[in-house]
Amino acid sequence: MRDSVHRIDLGEGGTPLVSVRGPGSCPRDVRVWAKEEAGNPTGSFKARGLSLAVNRARELGAPGVELPSAGNAAIALAAFAAAARMPARVAVPADTPRTVTATCRRFGAQVLEVEGTLVEAGAALRRESSGFWDLSTLREPYRLEGKKTLGFELAEQFGWSLPEWIFYPTGGGTGLIGMFKAFDELARLGLIGAARPRMVAVQMVGCAPIVRAFEEGEESARTWEDPKTSVWGLRVPQAIGDFLILRAVRESNGAALAVEEDEVWDTQARLARDQGLDWGPEGAACYAALQRFGSAGRILPTDRVVLFQTGHPGNYR
Ligand SMILES: Cc1ncc(COP(=O)(O)O)c(C=O)c1O
Repeated sequence: MRDSVHRIDLGEGGTPLVSVRGPGSCPRDVRVWAKEEAGNPTGSFKARGLSLAVNRARELGAPGVELPSAGNAAIALAAFAAAARMPARVAVPADTPRTVTATCRRFGAQVLEVEGTLVEAGAALRRESSGFWDLSTLREPYRLEGKKTLGFELAEQFGWSLPEWIFYPTGGGTGLIGMFKAFDELARLGLIGAARPRMVAVQMVGCAPIVRAFEEGEESARTWEDPKTSVWGLRVPQAIGDFLILRAVRESNGAALAVEEDEVWDTQARLARDQGLDWGPEGAACYAALQRFGSAGRILPTDRVVLFQTGHPGNYR
């Protein structure tokens, strides 16, 4: 942003790293943290990218802003647009939780509820042109730039020595791509060395285009037909930055892994019961993926692991 004095700031970013007990399948001494993103305004990490994107759209004179969303991006866009006094329009799949659509409307956004998935929601917006600027994932540069703050904060919180593993719940993958870009920039500035965390893209068995492409050795991902998952943030059948996600995963010697529905909801319940952690299912999916990695013997006792707990479970209720 050029004008930081008039920047709209709802208190996004600066989230804590919370130490959590790793699953029993991991070596006993392994250290695990959650980057707890639920404390962001509107309850998810989507606030980071949309803060910068809306601020910049306002600065450049956009008449309004819009995007299709699985839910959390819609709430974040609506909040920042309200703060910027800009009109906003969001399109969400018709089965998106009522909490999400009601919150967007409270912020004054127009809400289109569309049969189908994110793909159909995006098409609906394009069909009824509003002249608003499209802030869809990776269709403008600023959301990605905002997501880089995830990587900057991690580096700082770890004393400029990055952890060995990052588990990231992957839909469009902006956070994963943004973090990887942030690490490159930090290395160029001499603030960190050449070592990179192994990036693990976590998806759901019912919608796993990146995992499939990773396993098939492809450089980009085919659209996932008929995506079925109750973890809305991960119901993204097609990611425009698929090749960037796959590249980051491969370059970091990481992995892509899909987990089952039951595994996620059971993990979410267990984290609450055993550790007092009230996580969204996307964060729980990362914990479930770590459990599998532990069982497969891929985590060393000296490893440091970060799980991304990206959203507040209240946005689902
Ligand atoms: C809570 C939550 N986690 C993860 C994701 C996936 O994020 P990304 O699109 O950056 O991969 C979403 C997307 O909607 C989300 O709402």
